[in-house]
Amino acid sequence: MTLAPTVPMDEVWAKRLANRTHRMRPSAIREILKLTSQGDVLSLAGGLPAGELFPVAEVARATERALSLNGVRALQYGPSNGLPELREWVAGKRKGAEAYRVLITSGSQQGLDLIAKVLLDPGDNVAISAPAYMGALRAFDPYEPNYLPVDMDEEGIVPAALETVLAQGVKFLYVVPDFDNPSGRRASLERRQAIVEVCDRYGTLIVEDAPYRELRFDDTIYPPLFELAPDRVVHLGTLSKTLAPGLRLAWLLLPEQLVDIVEQAKQAMDLHTSTFGQSVAYELVKDGALEKRYPALREHYRSQRDVLVEKLHGALGDRLQFEVPPGGMFLWATLPEGVDATDLLRVAVEHGVAFVPGQSFYPREGKLNTLRLSFSLLDEDGFTEATKRLAAAFDAYGIRG
Ligand SMILES: Cc1ncc(COP(=O)(O)O)c(C=O)c1O
Repeated sequence: MTLAPTVPMDEVWAKRLANRTHRMRPSAIREILKLTSQGDVLSLAGGLPAGELFPVAEVARATERALSLNGVRALQYGPSNGLPELREWVAGKRKGAEAYRVLITSGSQQGLDLIAKVLLDPGDNVAISAPAYMGALRAFDPYEPNYLPVDMDEEGIVPAALETVLAQGVKFLYVVPDFDNPSGRRASLERRQAIVEVCDRYGTLIVEDAPYRELRFDDTIYPPLFELAPDRVVHLGTLSKTLAPGLRLAWLLLPEQLVDIVEQAKQAMDLHTSTFGQSVAYELVKDGALEKRYPALREHYRSQRDVLVEKLHGALGDRLQFEVPPGGMFLWATLPEGVDATDLLRVAVEHGVAFVPGQSFYPREGKLNTLRLSFSLLDEDGFTEATKRLAAAFDAYGIRG
């Protein structure tokens, strides 16, 4: 049985499609990465959380509890903005948040779609960090925005660059201040304050996506942008990286003025996020149970990062420059000037290893010599072998030290 036949679109069918689908076409990079699911390719490309950290037995017990406590409610239709106790729990996590401003979503990905749906008309400007989370670009694309990339450095997006972009008039700024995907960067406190200050001056809404916030590898904690400007920030949180992405359980913290309209959009989209899933999730997070998981998660990903960093140094020396991320799941690297990471990926896949070329994270032309490596999935032996194969690909491509 073939589960995923590839059917090329013919002209008749192409004419049936709405204009908004024009930006939904597969990228060359996605086609190459498809090859990585075949054969013996070690992937540093995917961004999946480590499956061994999923609390499978706890989920079974939480399901049992959710059904025995109020099984009918867990299986009935529910409110579009989510179960009250889960919304209260979310509000309790952030200073300045109130439960009526929380909307439970089916993954943050749905939150991104909802925000774009209520805010964007075709041609509207959106300020976006460069690079930016590819899934946000794909969520916004069908609403046909015009992206205005904002340069980043190791401390996050650069305020002067943000100012230049906002001066052109934008609907919102999209940014991941904590352990960004793909750059792994954490915005400094000064940058957070500067972002909020510049956005305040231009009256710009900020969309703050924070899925990796709890995966920090040191004791430095900066406030989320939401806490610096609770009326000017849409904040997205999720259980995907701290519990399990298969739950599809996430939330939006909304400025008051957006609460009703986003709730209506959510209702039209899927009525509400699974009441069953929400009931189970609440059993998994209540009474501080989620926070108890953080130390083990942080330790796991920090040690994964350390192993990848060590193996990269050993196998590639100075042929690959990279920043050591202070949290999250990703490492952002730079190849020597003039090397196109997409060309290198083709060679790397032939050598049995994959990564994501940085270009995928830019709305238009990006920095061709950048790439993202994930440290979430392989074990030590996997990293040893993957970096050996990378070194062989560098040799074959002609990248010398
Ligand atoms: C920055 C960012 N935002 C959102 C998401 C999607 O998260 P969710 O599983 O909650 O839809 C991801 C997943 O990789 C991500 O990296």
